[in-house]
Amino acid sequence: MASIFESARHARALAAAVDAFAVAPLLRAGLRLGLADALRTPQEPQALAERLGLESDLVLAWARMLHAQGWLSRRGETYELAGPFQWLLDAPEAASAAALLEQVVDTLGPQLAALPELMKGAERPLFGDREQALRMAAIMRLFEPRALRALTKIPGVRHPRRILDIGCGQGHYLADLLTRFRDALGVGIELDPHVAEAARRRLAEADVTRRAEIRVGDFLHAEPPPGRFDLILLNHNLHYFSPAQRVAVLRRAHDLLDERGIVVVQTLVRIEGLLPSLLGLQGPAALFDLALRTHRNLYGLPAVDELHAALREAGCAQTGEVPILAGGAVRFVWGSDGA
Ligand SMILES: C[S@@+](CC[C@H](N)C(=O)[O-])C[C@H]1O[C@@H](n2cnc3c(N)ncnc32)[C@H](O)[C@@H]1O
Repeated sequence: MASIFESARHARALAAAVDAFAVAPLLRAGLRLGLADALRTPQEPQALAERLGLESDLVLAWARMLHAQGWLSRRGETYELAGPFQWLLDAPEAASAAALLEQVVDTLGPQLAALPELMKGAERPLFGDREQALRMAAIMRLFEPRALRALTKIPGVRHPRRILDIGCGQGHYLADLLTRFRDALGVGIELDPHVAEAARRRLAEADVTRRAEIRVGDFLHAEPPPGRFDLILLNHNLHYFSPAQRVAVLRRAHDLLDERGIVVVQTLVRIEGLLPSLLGLQGPAALFDLALRTHRNLYGLPAVDELHAALREAGCAQTGEVPILAGGAVRFVWGSDGA
């Protein structure tokens, strides 16, 4: 039997699990209802509720809970945003963070609640209605500024001339690279026609349309774009392909490289160990992997060594990697035929 101290410790762990479950919906409510924005200025929940036309007992209880979790600070009867909540509103990544909270509450919550049935073999739902696809693209932009910085650290990516972006989403990477490299040409391939349309708009906004083309199609089966490329990107879409298909996708990409070309895969990876655990990244990567697997048209995250092996099997003589997040939960893994 557990000692009285052990029981207290275990009960504390249970309480922490319940708290963790509640925080994401509470933060989302705060963002959606303008409570967070209003609490930039310290104020009493009752007055705040009246001003926003909300139920005052619920606003007070909401504030107490987020105070208990460190998201609000309190002086007397007034509450205000604590640092992490302020960051959620003002960070350059604020839109991606808000999209992440929406996804966690609306999609992940019900999917996790269905785990007992899914584990017993119930049919997994399809991922990819329009709203989900757009939200996922918004979430992935969390990594974009860091990824664009990390990209230049990959040997051979210093000055690309012909860029192919496979599964280009809304075209942000292509637009950024074509803006930076004024003599480069770019092709994006995108499965979803609505998302491809958004990519065309993004390229027009960046004023690079004359040097870019967006093709709609499935990269694995459609006619490949003409010519050879010195930089081929696969950003956050390897999980759309089954482990068995991944080598075929990478081989197709490899076969479109010119002699100095490089294929670069950006992905979250399954990682374990002290550093990822200390940095708080092991849990989110494992959760993302689980969330992907609850859909019948998505697949789990690759492990790093699997990715290197797949690139080699696809024909790359040389592979390497560059971390995007400290600890490498998100990283670039690249392959080339060597200089
Ligand atoms: C999570 S989004 C990432 C978008 C973009 N690469 C980024 O990182 O911002 C993945 C994209 O890959 C596209 N995609 C998935 N499978 C594809 C395929 N077989 N061929 C072309 N695009 C594909 C999806 O439609 C989606 O827009």
